[in-house]
Amino acid sequence: MHKIIVGRDSWDLEKYGDAGTGYVGKNYAGEKKEARLTIPIYMDLARPHVVGIFGKRGMGKSYTMGTIAEEIMLLPESIRKNMSAIIIDTMGIFWSMKYPNDRDFKALLSWNLHPRGFPVEILVPKGLEDEYKSEEIPYDGTFSFSASELTAEDWGYTFEIDLMSEVGVFLERFIKELRENEKTYTMETLMYALEDMPSSHIRDALINRFSVAEEWGIFSPAGSGMSEIVKPGMVTVLDISLLGSFSLGWNVKTLVVGLLARKLLHERMKARRKEEIDSMSGIERSHMPIVWMFLDEAHQFLPETGKTAATDPLIQWVKVGREPGVSLVLATQQPNKLHEAAISQMDVVISHRLTASSDLNALRNIMQTYLRYDLASYIDALPRVKGAAIILDDNSERIYAAQMRPRISWHAGGTPIAIKETE
Ligand SMILES: Nc1ncnc2c1ncn2[C@@H]1O[C@H](COP(=O)(O)OP(=O)(O)O)[C@@H](O)[C@H]1O
Ligand SMILES: [Mg+2]
Repeated sequence: MHKIIVGRDSWDLEKYGDAGTGYVGKNYAGEKKEARLTIPIYMDLARPHVVGIFGKRGMGKSYTMGTIAEEIMLLPESIRKNMSAIIIDTMGIFWSMKYPNDRDFKALLSWNLHPRGFPVEILVPKGLEDEYKSEEIPYDGTFSFSASELTAEDWGYTFEIDLMSEVGVFLERFIKELRENEKTYTMETLMYALEDMPSSHIRDALINRFSVAEEWGIFSPAGSGMSEIVKPGMVTVLDISLLGSFSLGWNVKTLVVGLLARKLLHERMKARRKEEIDSMSGIERSHMPIVWMFLDEAHQFLPETGKTAATDPLIQWVKVGREPGVSLVLATQQPNKLHEAAISQMDVVISHRLTASSDLNALRNIMQTYLRYDLASYIDALPRVKGAAIILDDNSERIYAAQMRPRISWHAGGTPIAIKETE
């Protein structure tokens, strides 16, 4: 059957056909109420991409993220084993992917799809297990970092301490000395070392901050190995929703993402070198799966103005990610609040309805060059149903009106109560 493939250039199309692509939606012919669904749209999953998902609240951004993750898990084993995905779950909604979307059984049938759950692995911060248990959030394991993985800058962003300030200068020197003395250290060692310093109001201020940091539950002596987080052929959900209950909640979430992005990119770069060496001797072997990272509410991690602990690692990821093989999916209702470097690197954009002209402008800047009409007119022509979106494909320089497909697994979205009602 005829189909549209986005995210794949003509060379790859010729060589690989539709292998390694996922079914994400259908093309609309006609406009608004007259629009009819026609041929299926597939998206390349085998190559690294920077994907943007935009749209007003409730239009289907998180839903579509889940769809792409489903498609990764539906790839044939031979391709899937070289890939893995991490969903950064800021709202605690992706655990429901374990369950079939029985609610939309009929809609799925008309798409020739059937409800099913997927074996996603849900990880929560190691020190917050009790909290997740009492909130009845199901999980399969935990993740953590070693305190020694954090630079003075990481601490500075998270504590909102300017490294040029008096406290900041102290902090930077303290972490530097600690790192020089011990390659790896725990939060406990860090606290002892700080308490050993001569008493001063600066030291005491930092002791206060660091003792709060111990409560975030994201530290352990060794920290998680990357192989515990990215597993070949698997989708891991890092549920960081409960970190939001701390006073510096968003900072801690961005810290987690920053540390993770830095580590993953580093590991992928190492793996890529080994793969190159192997392939010179004729061996095709993957040393670490290619990673897809899904980041919902992306403007919080990679804001247009100001910096977070995740800014530099994510910018590096989008800028050099193609080579080591890391993909990023960024969803936000406010593309104009997203860092310009991320927007400009996007090669596939799925945009639901957007109304604010500032948000449309953010998109126009990257995509307008190959559009025949103004971007707003493409979006206006969409029928007013959930999951309707335009897809801009920089690889083929094409734009499509699309209906994103219904989910195969349950989408908890904004309705976490619904699942309880039907059980
Ligand atoms: N492609 C789609 N097909 C059918 N329903 C959809 C689709 N996308 C979204 N929806 C519906 O819209 C609701 C909100 O979507 P969601 O992705 O949670 O919004 P947001 O854009 O705020 O992340 C979902 O719970 C679902 O019922
Ligand atoms: Mg959402």
